[in-house]
Amino acid sequence: MIDLNEAGAGLQGYELLAAQLEALLAGERDFIANASQFSAFLYSQVDDLNWAGFYLNRNQELVLGPFQGQVACVRIPFGRGVCGAAAQSLQTQRVEDVHAFPGHIACDSASNSELVVPLVKAGRLIGVLDLDSPKLARFGVEDQRGIERLAEIFLQSSDC
Ligand code: SME
Repeated sequence: MIDLNEAGAGLQGYELLAAQLEALLAGERDFIANASQFSAFLYSQVDDLNWAGFYLNRNQELVLGPFQGQVACVRIPFGRGVCGAAAQSLQTQRVEDVHAFPGHIACDSASNSELVVPLVKAGRLIGVLDLDSPKLARFGVEDQRGIERLAEIFLQSSDC
C-alpha cells in the first residue's frame, strides 16, 4: 500500500498531488481500477468537493463511471449540461456558478460550481472527469491547470 505522505515529500499543492498520483497508479494499468483510485484520491485530497468521478464515452453518449459522492444521473447526451458540453467541445468547462449554466444537470442540489475535463487519448475521447463543489467559484485557473495535469497522468498510466 502506497504511503501518500511519503510520495512527493517537500512538494506542495498540485505538484505534490501529481507526485502522489504517479506513485498511487504506478504498477497498475487497468482503466477501471485506476479510475476508481483516482476518483477516491481526488475526493479525499482536494478540498471542498461533493462529487468527483467519471463519465465515459459509450457510442457518443456519456455513461456514469467510477466516482465518489452521492448517486448521480447515469446517462448524459453529448451537448447536455456541463459534462456534455466538455465532451462535445473537447474543452475543459470551468463553471463558477452552475445555476447560471444553460442546461446544467443538478445531480446534487448542494453543487454550486463545477470543473469538467475531457479525457482525450490518441485523438479519441475516452470520457470526462467531473468535479463538483458546494462552494461558488471553487475552481480557478490554477485548479484547472492542476486537475488537467492530474488527468493527463491518469491517462498516461492507464490502458484505454
Ligand atoms: N452536473 C453535471 C452532471 C453530472 S453530476 O454533477 C455528477 C452536468 O451538468 O453535466
